[in-house]
Amino acid sequence: MPLKSTGFLLLLLGCLRAAKMEEVHGMVGGNVDLSCISPEKKYFDLSKTLVYWQTKDNVLLNSYIPGEDTSKYVHLKYQNRTSLTLEKMEKGDFSLRLFNITTEDELEFACIVMNKSNAEFFFSSIVNLRVAANYSVPIVDDKTNNTEVIFTCTSHNGFPKPKVYWVNKTDNSLLNQSLQNDTFTTNEKGLFSVSSVLKITWTPNISIECCIENVNLQQNLTVQSSFLLSPGGSFNRQTITTPPNQLKPPEKTSNTVFFTIFGILLVILLMVVILSRKLYKKKHRYGDYTGPQGNRQMAETTEYI
Ligand SMILES: *[C@@H]1O[C@H](CO)[C@@H](O)[C@H](O)[C@H]1NC(C)=O
Ligand SMILES: *[C@@H]1O[C@H](CO)[C@@H](O)[C@H](O)[C@H]1NC(C)=O
Ligand SMILES: *[C@@H]1O[C@H](CO)[C@@H](O)[C@H](O)[C@H]1NC(C)=O
Ligand SMILES: *[C@@H]1O[C@H](CO)[C@@H](O)[C@H](O)[C@H]1NC(C)=O
Ligand SMILES: *[C@@H]1O[C@H](CO)[C@@H](O)[C@H](O)[C@H]1NC(C)=O
Ligand SMILES: *[C@@H]1O[C@H](CO)[C@@H](O)[C@H](O)[C@H]1NC(C)=O
Ligand SMILES: *[C@@H]1O[C@H](CO)[C@@H](O)[C@H](O)[C@H]1NC(C)=O
Ligand SMILES: *[C@@H]1O[C@H](CO)[C@@H](O)[C@H](O)[C@H]1NC(C)=O
Ligand SMILES: *[C@@H]1O[C@H](CO)[C@@H](O)[C@H](O)[C@H]1NC(C)=O
Ligand SMILES: *[C@@H]1O[C@H](CO)[C@@H](O)[C@H](O)[C@H]1NC(C)=O
Repeated sequence: MPLKSTGFLLLLLGCLRAAKMEEVHGMVGGNVDLSCISPEKKYFDLSKTLVYWQTKDNVLLNSYIPGEDTSKYVHLKYQNRTSLTLEKMEKGDFSLRLFNITTEDELEFACIVMNKSNAEFFFSSIVNLRVAANYSVPIVDDKTNNTEVIFTCTSHNGFPKPKVYWVNKTDNSLLNQSLQNDTFTTNEKGLFSVSSVLKITWTPNISIECCIENVNLQQNLTVQSSFLLSPGGSFNRQTITTPPNQLKPPEKTSNTVFFTIFGILLVILLMVVILSRKLYKKKHRYGDYTGPQGNRQMAETTEYI
């Protein structure tokens, strides 16, 4: 049965390009609601409704089959990590709450709501989860022998992979990326650390800034480091950490994407499904199937291909 259901879910995902695409943001260790709200129908008889939440690669997060405990179908990665709310589902809100987000959850998730009687889609949607973890405030070290200066900027345990920029604070220009050597490492949780080495020829009054950009948080963490020629003739080293200029990422950005070709494919597939179901019914009448009701529901829907 697992093999067959995989085939079934694969088929569904082929059609899902016609679905609405939404983006949500979550922090590592936090929770997020993956939204899936019926665009039209406002009341659902849950005894006649099937719900599937899965990844693009057919990993099942959760599903709802009337009268059945579906937790055995849920992938180990997502066991005890999600919840659906029946009261909300009746009102057309099939959003899935995902707990304790990890870096491996940065995926596209699909929600499929179907008519249990004929396996027709009521609707489906795709949610793109963007995962983030805060980088530590960067630290800049320097070494100089009055010929060249080597700056090293380090920051730890963030997500996704950061972008590192060095800025010449004298004229606020970005330094050529070819001057820097970035080394990235990941820990067991998939969090990134970075060490960026910048080598430049030594001049009086160097003022540079290291900038660690977290694209998903739209956050830049910056540290400024300067060698200033003091009136006395000696050099003062100075480090200024500026507070992160974090722009709150939008909780949700919604854009509806329609691919006409896939819409047509969906209609054709549904016709094939219904036709083959009729043929199948005539031939077998499900008579020789003895499994429990819920399993049969899964088995039925998987036979269509
Ligand atoms: C999920 O919770 C159940 C009951 O609390 C427990 O038996 C099971 O081991 C848990 N599964 C995982 C993968 O944590
Ligand atoms: C969250 O997930 C991490 C990594 O899988 C695990 O170590 C931690 O115990 C989990 N925390 C909770 C509260 O479940
Ligand atoms: C579900 O399918 C059955 C059988 O085709 C149909 O009678 C029923 O009206 C459908 N339910 C909804 C809510 O569309
Ligand atoms: C990320 O860290 C910075 C400082 O390190 C802090 O100001 C900011 O609130 C943090 N953001 C989140 C979302 O935790
Ligand atoms: C010190 O200066 C020499 C050139 O005089 C250069 O080759 C070397 O890389 C410099 N070392 C450091 C650590 O700046
Ligand atoms: C920074 O900009 C100033 C002014 O344009 C320039 O003189 C200096 O050489 C630049 N420093 C570096 C390291 O590029
Ligand atoms: C950066 O340096 C590389 C190699 O030194 C050079 O080819 C490139 O044109 C430079 N880019 C800019 C924007 O100056
Ligand atoms: C960058 O740093 C790594 C590790 O320190 C080193 O192996 C590599 O040769 C460096 N690359 C360049 C272009 O300097
Ligand atoms: C270095 O900066 C100091 C103060 O910002 C200024 O007085 C001095 O003239 C500068 N020296 C050079 C060589 O630019
Ligand atoms: C972060 O800095 C980079 C490089 O200067 C810039 O392109 C980007 O827009 C900045 N992002 C934010 C959120 O300030």
